[in-house]
Amino acid sequence: MTTPYFVFESPEAASRKVASEIATLIRERSAQGRSAVLGLATGNTPLPLYRELIRLHREEGLSFRNVISFNLDEYIGLERDHPESYWSFMHHNLFNHVDIHPENIHLPSGTVAADEISDHCAAYDAAIQQAGGVDCQILGIGRTGHIGFNEPGTPATARTLLVHLDEITRQDAAPAFGGIENVPTTAITMGCGTILEARKIALLAWGAKKAGIVCEAIQGPVSEQVSASFLQNHPNAAFFLDQEAASEMNMDTNNN
Ligand code: PGA
Repeated sequence: MTTPYFVFESPEAASRKVASEIATLIRERSAQGRSAVLGLATGNTPLPLYRELIRLHREEGLSFRNVISFNLDEYIGLERDHPESYWSFMHHNLFNHVDIHPENIHLPSGTVAADEISDHCAAYDAAIQQAGGVDCQILGIGRTGHIGFNEPGTPATARTLLVHLDEITRQDAAPAFGGIENVPTTAITMGCGTILEARKIALLAWGAKKAGIVCEAIQGPVSEQVSASFLQNHPNAAFFLDQEAASEMNMDTNNN
């Protein structure tokens, strides 16, 4: 199996496509008086998507009042208002600029006490279920092949859990934290099992740095070593790539 993938001339062009699919979902649900449940990601990758969603809100009247969001992950040890917390990231880059209700925003807590982490993770999964499950999950991919913070070795069935961050992941985060010694060593992440329950999944990847792992995830064996490869078994998942991120794909299998 391979996961479908679509190649665009730029991250902005790919992001416009994904944003328009999200906007359609939000508007259809709104017309039915229902919520749209979005699974959201952090990192550099979704920034052009969030810019486009903000533009749609400002210029085309897209309302987020019926949106319920669940983010993939959060670093352990960071207060919400730490500049590198994912809570801060999401508010700075999306939530502060749209009309989402604050009570509809969900991220795992980075400050939950050690002996409460497993209950907190179970409650996060339960809240997703209670919202009706994720309609559309946005993912990036780490150089380790992770989705969320599901580093190599995390099983496909894992629910939201505490994880130790891979050294490569911590190195990639080091510049933002002013040195690897400041990067947290653990995080809470939706597990792959939680992520794979989303009804639709869009994995975004840009740049040559991601080309090798993107190719492995789409065309390589389904393996715990590359958690993004689990998307091969999902009925409605696709990769949205720019040309550089698609540059190592075997074009014979391009199902674009
Ligand atoms: P990036 O991170 O979007 O900053 O490249 C992606 C990830 O690690 O999942």
